[in-house]
Amino acid sequence: MKRIYLDHAATTPVDKEVIEAMLPYFSEYYGNASSLHSFRKEAYEALEKSREQVARILNAENKEILFTSGGTESDNLALKGVAYKNRDKINTKGPHIITSSIEHPAVLETCKNLEKEGFKIKYLSVNKYGVVDLDELLESITKDTFLISIMFANNEIGTIQPIEEIGKIARENDIIFHTDAVQAIGKIPIDVKKLNIDMLSISSHKIYGPKGVGALFIRKNLNIKPIINGGGHERGLRSGTENIPGIVGLGKACELSMERLDRDTRYIMGLRDKLIKGVLENIEESYLNGHPKDRLVNNAHFRFTAIEGESLLISLDEKGIA
Ligand SMILES: Cc1ncc(COP(=O)(O)O)c(C=O)c1O
Repeated sequence: MKRIYLDHAATTPVDKEVIEAMLPYFSEYYGNASSLHSFRKEAYEALEKSREQVARILNAENKEILFTSGGTESDNLALKGVAYKNRDKINTKGPHIITSSIEHPAVLETCKNLEKEGFKIKYLSVNKYGVVDLDELLESITKDTFLISIMFANNEIGTIQPIEEIGKIARENDIIFHTDAVQAIGKIPIDVKKLNIDMLSISSHKIYGPKGVGALFIRKNLNIKPIINGGGHERGLRSGTENIPGIVGLGKACELSMERLDRDTRYIMGLRDKLIKGVLENIEESYLNGHPKDRLVNNAHFRFTAIEGESLLISLDEKGIA
């Protein structure tokens, strides 16, 4: 049976060029990037090259990139790192953090935990297309608000948020702005300077890189607290011996996704629109979820009122379609 994989928002296969780039760093250049002897050299150079590759895709500076174990850790570090730096605000009225009700669990569950610790969180509602309401955002800001965290694009319905406007609001109100760009990276050109983004999370396995590696962009001069303590790697913000093969994979995946952005966008958008048209025209009671235009190029998300979602998933799976 021919199998068809349509779930690239969940994960992607690792690109052959990425595997090739990673291979030498398993057993040829296996040194510890933090060692003092010369075996460190190749590993350290690879680490810094990858930092540059990631920085380039965001128009960031190398020193603003910190490697993590993936999108979940990047989100945790961004939110907790800023919250713990602002612990003295815990007894103020809040909200301390403003986020949206449709964030990935990596943000929502982190927020719930911060709430248990006493921080006050505002979850913005979204309209029928899944877009946050900028008026509600403005109304929610108080003098106690120190962080806004709104995802760049949603992992289920693909809706792209008005990141430029949110960045402007955050900057004008002197509030740190974090965005989870795990789904957007490699699909939308991102310039952290132009968009006034202070922190941004990415994950390698969504862009044809290996699983278990990601990065957090942290604007220079922004001080946050580490959530993993240890040997002081990554400027003391993320201790633990660096996963050099994984980081090399992430760097290469970023480089490739930048090179291929225009070509892939045109190709994938064509496929997406063909799929959307085909489903809506041929299946009764089918509807498109998310925004008709402001959506990820690789996202088509439907609602079928005549069939229960799980049954549809299982029957498609039996036909080899994921
Ligand atoms: C929007 C978003 N944020 C965070 C994550 C978590 O990333 P990771 O799987 O690298 O921990 C995902 C993965 O599904 C995601 O789609």
